[in-house]
Formats: sequence, structure tokens, C-alpha cells
Amino acid sequence: MFRIGLVGAGRMGQTHLTALSSSTTVTVTDIVEPRSEVAAALTAEGYTVHSSIDGLLERGDVDGFLVATPSGFHVDVIRQLAPAGLPILSEKPCGLTADDALAVAAIAQKSGIRLQIGYWRRFVPAMLELKKDIESGRFGRLLLVHASQWDYRPPGAEFRNSSGGILTDMGVHEIDVIHWLTGEAPSGISGTAMMSTTPGVVDEDAAVFTLTLPSGTLGIATLGRFYPEADFVGIEVMGEEDHVRLNILEGDAGGAIQMAALRDQAESFAAGGTVHGATIDDAVAALRVVALYTENSS
Ligand SMILES: NC(=O)c1ccc[n+]([C@@H]2O[C@H](COP(=O)([O-])OP(=O)(O)OC[C@H]3O[C@@H](n4cnc5c(N)ncnc54)[C@H](O)[C@@H]3O)[C@@H](O)[C@H]2O)c1
Repeated sequence: MFRIGLVGAGRMGQTHLTALSSSTTVTVTDIVEPRSEVAAALTAEGYTVHSSIDGLLERGDVDGFLVATPSGFHVDVIRQLAPAGLPILSEKPCGLTADDALAVAAIAQKSGIRLQIGYWRRFVPAMLELKKDIESGRFGRLLLVHASQWDYRPPGAEFRNSSGGILTDMGVHEIDVIHWLTGEAPSGISGTAMMSTTPGVVDEDAAVFTLTLPSGTLGIATLGRFYPEADFVGIEVMGEEDHVRLNILEGDAGGAIQMAALRDQAESFAAGGTVHGATIDDAVAALRVVALYTENSS
């Protein structure tokens, strides 16, 4: 059993705990969580909980780390963990900017650790099939790849105000999936967004981005933070010869698909990584597209 030390047990950290509870090859033994009430509840569930990374490094006995702190802490957390020399699976986006992700790449290179980034859509079987179909030429010349992420409800104000905006927080998934499916890093981006009207929140509620790929194929990312019933993730591909529209996460069944993908992602990380797991270079590439959008719109 590969033992993971989870750093950050908030919304996503606890989603990982649920996902990994069904794994037969990976288990979370240790958790770093500074919020004492959350730490107490997790201790009662049988985890060894540390209030700081130092505690995990001094007393933990793990084979790798899973970082699920807010994005603004990713670089510092990975810098603290790296000297232990163990592999790290970091949540996306791996920092808030391309420079942050580049700093993480430098840390990983210096300490010789293996890093994987949590772009879990790459582990959904329907996405893997679609990638194979694109590579086999099923669609002919690709015209459009439309990736959607419509969340059921947004996270809290504190998270939204510090997560870099809808493109950095949500849209990096769609940028990564379009890049991964087509094999082309987007070279252009434009878009438009609708700001939240929730008092105290400075963040977008919805946005639409168009991405230009070097071959001329167009990418579209549609993002929204208020979708009825449950989180929705969709992908649509139109080529000269075929078309497909897939609802990857939809309704009640979506949760199980995400859980399986998160579990498969962690298991492949524990097994040494796979060809489709995202690398730090993929994280840098996604955040570079965000930077391009910011430059274009300022
Ligand atoms: N892959 C996905 O689909 C997905 C979905 C949601 C969130 N995320 C990512 O997961 C990360 C966490 O998001 P979240 O919504 O869970 O945030 P959150 O605020 O709900 O949880 C973060 C947790 O980290 C803890 N924390 C803060 N600083 C810490 C530190 N220095 N060391 C240890 N723990 C610390 C907080 O106490 C909190 O419990 C973000 O990077 C976000 O982008 C990914």
C-alpha cells in the first residue's frame, strides 16, 4: 500500500479522501490541516493529523504527498515538502501564475522529485477514448473542441477572492483538456466574463473563452458557477468527418465518475506516473495561456 500524506483537508482534500477510501493500492495515513475543528474530526476518523508541514516531515511515515491547499500556497508548500525527496501530486493549477509553476518546476528539478498535477479529467475513461479517437483520425481535420465546466455552486468568498479568477481557478482544466486532447498548446485566447453580484466577492460567475490552436483548430471553454442539480463537465468535438458530444459529469452519476478518476489518478501517481498524467510542464502551459489572456485584456 502506497501511503500518502495529504496537505490541506478542505473541499478538495476531503473529496480526495473519499475517492481514495475505495483504493486497494493507495491510502492516506497522514494529513496536515491547520483548522483545529477539521483536524479533530479527521483524527476521530483515524487519520494522523499534523497542524503543520514540519509535523508531517518530522513524525509522518509516508511514501508521497498530495497537496490540496489553496492555490496561492502551492509553491511554498511544495518548497517545504521537496527536501523529503518523495513524489508529490499537486492539485491544479500549481500556483496562481506561470511564474509560480516555473518556480515549482525549478524546485522539483533541484531536489530530483517526481511531480504530477491533478488534472483528473485525463483519467476519465470516456476522455481517454476520445483522445484515442482524435489520434486515430476519426474526426478528420479538427474544427472545434468545446470544453465546459458548469459548477453546481461556487466556493466561499474567501476562496473565490484568492483563487486568481475564473480562468485560473476553473478554466485551466478546459485549457489543459483541449491541449491534451489535440496535442496542441493554445497560442491565442480571447474571452468575455460576467462578474459576480454577490457582496464581498470579486470573481466571475460565468465566462466564455475562445482558444486558437497552431493548426487553426478552435477551442472553446464555457465556465459557469451556478448550474442546477450537480457539477457538469462536457466535451464536444467537431471535425470535417465526425462529431461527438459527451457529458462527462452529469447529474447524480457524475460524482462517481469524478471519484473513480481521482482514485485512478492517485493510483497511477503511486505506481510511478503514466503517460497521460499531467506534468509540471502541462501546468506551466495552462497558466501561460491564462497569462496571455491577462496580457491581451489589459
Ligand atoms: N481538481 C479539481 O477538480 C479541483 C476542485 C476544487 C479545488 N481544486 C484545487 O484544490 C485546492 C484546494 O481547494 P479547496 O477548494 O479544497 O480549498 P479549501 O479552502 O476548501 O481547502 C484548503 C484547505 O487547506 C488548508 N490549508 C491552508 N493552508 C495550508 C497550509 N499551508 N498547509 C496545510 N493546509 C493548509 C485549509 O485549512 C483548508 O482546509 C486548490 O488549489 C484548488 O484549485 C481542484
